[in-house]
Amino acid sequence: MDQRAMLEPNIRTVLVCCGTGCLANGSMDVFRALQKQLETEGGEFQVRTYTKATGCNGWCEKGPLVKIVPDDITYCNVKASDVPAIVDKTLKKGEVVKKLLYRDPKTKKYFKSHREISFYTKQLKVALRNIGEIDPANIQDYIARDGYQALAKVLKSMSPEQVIDEVQRSGLRGRGGAGFPTGLKWKACASQAAEPRYVVCNGDEGDPGAFMDRSIMEGDPHSVIEGMIIGAYAVGAAAGFIYVRDEYDLAVVNLGRAIEDARRSGYLGDNILGSGFSFDIEIVRGGGAFVCGEETALLASIEGNVGEPRDKYVYPTEKGLWGQPTVINNVESWANVPVIINRGADEWARVGTATSKGTKVFSLVGKVYNTGLVEVPMGTTLREIIFDIGGGIPNGRQFKAVQTGGPSGGCIPASLIDLPVDFDSLTSVGSMMGSGGMIVMDDRTCMVEVARYYLNFLAGESCGKCVPCREGIRRMLEILTRICNAQGHPEDLEILSSLGETLQVASLCGLGKTAPNPVLSTLRYFRDEYVAHIVEKRCPAGVCRSMTEFYIDASLCTGCGLCKKNCPADAISGEIKEVHVIDQDRCIKCGECINNCKFQAVKVR
Ligand SMILES: Cc1cc2nc3c(=O)[nH]c(=O)nc-3n(C[C@H](O)[C@H](O)[C@H](O)COP(=O)(O)O)c2cc1C
Ligand code: SF4
Ligand code: SF4
Ligand code: FES
Repeated sequence: MDQRAMLEPNIRTVLVCCGTGCLANGSMDVFRALQKQLETEGGEFQVRTYTKATGCNGWCEKGPLVKIVPDDITYCNVKASDVPAIVDKTLKKGEVVKKLLYRDPKTKKYFKSHREISFYTKQLKVALRNIGEIDPANIQDYIARDGYQALAKVLKSMSPEQVIDEVQRSGLRGRGGAGFPTGLKWKACASQAAEPRYVVCNGDEGDPGAFMDRSIMEGDPHSVIEGMIIGAYAVGAAAGFIYVRDEYDLAVVNLGRAIEDARRSGYLGDNILGSGFSFDIEIVRGGGAFVCGEETALLASIEGNVGEPRDKYVYPTEKGLWGQPTVINNVESWANVPVIINRGADEWARVGTATSKGTKVFSLVGKVYNTGLVEVPMGTTLREIIFDIGGGIPNGRQFKAVQTGGPSGGCIPASLIDLPVDFDSLTSVGSMMGSGGMIVMDDRTCMVEVARYYLNFLAGESCGKCVPCREGIRRMLEILTRICNAQGHPEDLEILSSLGETLQVASLCGLGKTAPNPVLSTLRYFRDEYVAHIVEKRCPAGVCRSMTEFYIDASLCTGCGLCKKNCPADAISGEIKEVHVIDQDRCIKCGECINNCKFQAVKVR
């Protein structure tokens, strides 16, 4: 569609979320049904209506989402069968279909616009600025929202040094994990004499449960591409690579199309916008291992070698791809670059804290009402993210901890709920920003089991190149497994601590160095749970089966029967309105009774 037409007041656009989450829930059926009905029903509409497939709005749990602009209506959980009501009521008569609006589970209030919903009100979208608003397959959509303006500004009016200076003044720190200052990295690369130089986008995103980089690559690929072209101009690179996690098919398709469109429009390739500067980008599919996200392993993988890290006495900015100076940045880091140039470093840096500028995208999951992608100013507190945006903990349970930073991040206890979320605060409490995973845990989570779970993942992902990581993670895992099986010894805690500290200093790459975080942080904040497992042979959360016995407290049981109804082993007896009882011989300790009882009558001993 012609972009100018889109901006006219008598045009209405129906935005159907076609990110991976909504697609999995049938949003393509909704999109097609809308297109079909709009094609066959000309004439009756007061305004011309278009339908667009967009990227992820971050609220996948309520998807498929359909937004109607400029009316500012958001419909949730839309099915193809809802399309006639949307067309007849909303698109023809301007009325709202109430049953498709979001209804707050606590206040029972309906919301017409997603902008009024607590999930969105505290968010500030910078990296995600266009996602959910544009069709990622349409370069004109991106251009209509200031796309490629930053590139034009850079090529027409800024020297490479000025670009680096602007990025440095913004205070942008890498969003992929370590939070290294992006401007410094670019400066280090630009100062090298060797040529050619390269820029790389790290889109490996190996953290289980995290999908912020995928969402940007799928929903707004041009923002990454524009950031990379600006970076390439700044450091004098002639070629760039986007390394995309192998499972991310839609990201590969959307990026591929965006690269072709950018080339056709003169933003990529030879003599970009007539400036004399030439640069092009290639997509490389990931090697399918968590460690391939580590930058030196990633570069080895692009070269066609095994994705194993190497020591960093020499940084990639000096000797990276094929031994040449290389800048590697995360997807979200690149997506911020055009905004820094367009708004200016000072304006961009107005958001955030003294040492962590700008916003950060988090993937908020776990025991929280509203799960999804959230982008907030650095320094927003955990409380605001978990309770205001996430809506708090479901089923009347207690907030216990939040795990940040991906599999090798740490667990932060409920007592630190007012911690501002930024690079340095997270590190100071034994966790880390990582790429932005945030997993909320309630009182039904066993912290020893959590540590065991992450170590189990990391043991499988260690590349095995260095001994501390290869052997150390395994030994720590063995100890944790024993503790969870009621076979722990008092001296285990000391051994876990000293092994963890050894890994932190002796491992070759970030995987081994950070792998002890889940163990050390839970030992620091939840030591009593380790002691209960080892000394009392008891799992306080009722998760480790060999140590758990569920019983029903007669004084709290209302005889509602919910536990009995949900017990898969037929282990609960009792009539309605009478006290229920668990038969210990039949119980398989699945925990469904405690999860379902609304009166907290099921207890653990
Ligand atoms: C085991 C491991 C996995 C990593 N995975 C990723 C990843 O998936 N994506 C990413 O951007 N950075 C990842 N990193 C961090 C990268 O090594 C590197 O710091 C980052 O890509 C640099 O970009 P930035 O400065 O923009 O953050 C990982 C690091 C380690 C140690
Ligand atoms: S720390 Fe682990 S993942 Fe990293 S190089 Fe050593 S063995 Fe491989
Ligand atoms: S733990 Fe599972 S099997 Fe045991 S009583 Fe409860 S619901 Fe039934
Ligand atoms: S895919 Fe639609 S909200 Fe995420």
